[in-house]
Amino acid sequence: MKISIIGCGNMGQAYARSFRKYGLVQAEDLELVIRGEGRRSQLEVLGQVSNALNESIGTSDLVILAVKPQDFAAVAEDLAKVLRPSQVLLSIMAGITIPRLQQALEHKTVVRAMPNSPAQIGLGITAYTTGTELTMLQTVMVEQLLNSTGRAIHLADEAHLDAVTALSGSGPAYFFHIVQSMIDAGIGLGLAPHVANALVKQTMLGSYHLMEHAERTPAELIKAVMSKGGTTEAAFCVLSNEDLGGTLDRAITAACGRATELSGS
Ligand SMILES: NC(=O)c1ccc[n+]([C@@H]2O[C@H](COP(=O)([O-])OP(=O)(O)OC[C@H]3O[C@@H](n4cnc5c(N)ncnc54)[C@H](OP(=O)(O)O)[C@@H]3O)[C@@H](O)[C@H]2O)c1
Repeated sequence: MKISIIGCGNMGQAYARSFRKYGLVQAEDLELVIRGEGRRSQLEVLGQVSNALNESIGTSDLVILAVKPQDFAAVAEDLAKVLRPSQVLLSIMAGITIPRLQQALEHKTVVRAMPNSPAQIGLGITAYTTGTELTMLQTVMVEQLLNSTGRAIHLADEAHLDAVTALSGSGPAYFFHIVQSMIDAGIGLGLAPHVANALVKQTMLGSYHLMEHAERTPAELIKAVMSKGGTTEAAFCVLSNEDLGGTLDRAITAACGRATELSGS
């Protein structure tokens, strides 16, 4: 299998690393297309680095578009000239819809995926949807590659990618915000920053694993740690008065609305 990745920033590079780590592609079959020369030396250990969208892209089974959405128009014109109908084009660009990709690239076999930043360490979650039926072999290839960056989930309806963008695409930022706020609260209560850091991060890690192992819902786990008149209940009194759940709901709904606006649908 041969793969070309166009745009090797955070995500493009994460993909290249995961594919190589799991032996899904050989270095000589991985083409990495960059714009400047800054990252060349760190990418050369992963694959064949080039800075032009030329005919060699037409020999790949899969072409991954990992540039920022605002760079798509500049890439599309040259890419359309070299794509062949048998190739799969996988776009991870936020907000660029399948019809827009198909039209700009004059290409039918398009997959649109929404990863998130933990993909950089192989713990991402990616939802993807396809513009047209892929062959069984092409579907297996896409799933296997996406799974190497974490987990992959197929969506039947492209419109759901806006909710995915709001939930898991932007999700790491909500998590970091909550972690930072808890650390700041700990420091505010007099703990040394390194102590507050360790307490909050390990609490997050342990709670995640407890949730995974306990076979109980998050709501049931909250009940289990909340005793009448206790400290957790005192905290939850404030959280529900301030409507933290409602605030998160409104934030995620706003992100979803913005994703819909950006994709122009
Ligand atoms: N980061 C995330 O968590 C995340 C999550 C979901 C989806 N995405 C999507 O993934 C895509 C990439 O995000 P990112 O965070 O990896 O962005 P990034 O770090 O800015 O990487 C984009 C890369 O594309 C390169 N590029 C731009 N035009 C190019 C061209 N004509 N030829 C070759 N390379 C070109 C840029 O080169 P320069 O270095 O010269 O600018 C840059 O290295 C975006 O469309 C984003 O919407 C990202």
